[in-house]
Amino acid sequence: MFDSLTYQKRRKALREKVSHGIILLLGNNEAPANYPDNAYKFRQDSSFVYFFGLQHPGFAGILDVDSGEDYLFGDDVDMDDIIWMGPQPSVKELAAQVGVDKSYPFDKLKDFVGSAIAKRRKVHFLPLYRHDKMLLVEEMTGIRASMTPKHASVELIKAIVDLRSSKEPCEIAEIDKACDVGYEMHTAAMRLCKPGISEQYIAGVLDGIASSYGRMVSFATILTQNGQTLHNHDHSHVLQEGRLMLTDAGAELMNCYCSDHTRTVPVGGKFTARQRDVYSIVLACHDKALELARPEVTYMSVHLEVCKVLAQGMKDLGLMKGDVEEAVAAGAHALFLPHGLGHMMGLDVHDMEDLGQCYVGYDDEIQPSAQFGLSSLRMGRRLKEGFVITDEPGCYFIPALIDKWRAEKIHADFLNFDAIDKFKDFGGIRLEDDILITPEGSRFTGHKHIPITIGEVEDIMNE
Ligand code: GLY
Repeated sequence: MFDSLTYQKRRKALREKVSHGIILLLGNNEAPANYPDNAYKFRQDSSFVYFFGLQHPGFAGILDVDSGEDYLFGDDVDMDDIIWMGPQPSVKELAAQVGVDKSYPFDKLKDFVGSAIAKRRKVHFLPLYRHDKMLLVEEMTGIRASMTPKHASVELIKAIVDLRSSKEPCEIAEIDKACDVGYEMHTAAMRLCKPGISEQYIAGVLDGIASSYGRMVSFATILTQNGQTLHNHDHSHVLQEGRLMLTDAGAELMNCYCSDHTRTVPVGGKFTARQRDVYSIVLACHDKALELARPEVTYMSVHLEVCKVLAQGMKDLGLMKGDVEEAVAAGAHALFLPHGLGHMMGLDVHDMEDLGQCYVGYDDEIQPSAQFGLSSLRMGRRLKEGFVITDEPGCYFIPALIDKWRAEKIHADFLNFDAIDKFKDFGGIRLEDDILITPEGSRFTGHKHIPITIGEVEDIMNE
């Protein structure tokens, strides 16, 4: 947790951005896995953490925009809880830690919200992604649980996106630390990547590293020799010599700040000539994004420049043909890169995605595209100092997609399907770093850079 002034300043800034009414920020509750007392690892709501700092289940906060008062709602533990959980701080003590002097039992939240509604005051709440909270909002406001997403306050969403997008120095320090754990995870994966070792074993080691240094992994680890499947959570294979192992994994610290890195390495520790060719193109794409990312540049334009590097590389390999600019404008390169260059990162690995990607990654100036590939770009808008985003180009040979495009002659003017067919057993490569937008440009987050050049990767794998 940061000092109480940090949370007081953030809540004041939020109250100043919202015109009137009350702001309801619901913390998360325990989520049972297979019976009520056996819960998944608790994860607090990120906006609640941002404004109230507390990592305990069963809390809610209210910011009264009109009076300038903040309130915390939660229940003190009873003797039975103390017997099973040990002594716990009181709600009043927890509230004081984050600069709130008005705290009440959780039940009072319903009275507070009910009284605001009776006075026809606006109740702002965020899009809800957990059903227990939808039901609570239904109970308090009369809005049907399934309709709560439609009633989320756009004014509140925009205000929070504005505040959380540029990271404060204390947040950047935490992200740097999370990336240092990411370094430990990825270098461990590189060292363990040998023929005969199972994907599951290495993924399990990574999960253990994340939880031994912090809370847990920041998302379900992707570790696979079938990297052509973008979000492959299947770890059921045994690594085979000559394949590529793609590892997309990150850590989340105790205070919820995240890391998200991807590396792709040759099983056995030596890239083949064909792997080197494709890897070098993806690395050039990754470096191009770092070179271009700076304040006032749109990430959409960086994405498109990176796609041109990819398309030129594919053309040099004989897999694409024609004019590179025209190919990228048409979306032909998306056969190899069907996802976007990156997303915001911070308290969530896809930062603020619960608030709506159209508010986080886009704005009135830059609107999402409907084109295949570009439509998966999560972050398109103009960059600002303090943004933390991912730089994650890739190149994938997805047999089903290749077959479909070939059969339907999609972008046949730009694609050499006979040559592409020979890569259907290749797999996929993705290289991902997290970058901070600085006044001058950008920098990698974390204190140590995970090996990424062909030489660095082969060296660590053969130590
Ligand atoms: N690194 C996983 C993701 O961005 O979804």
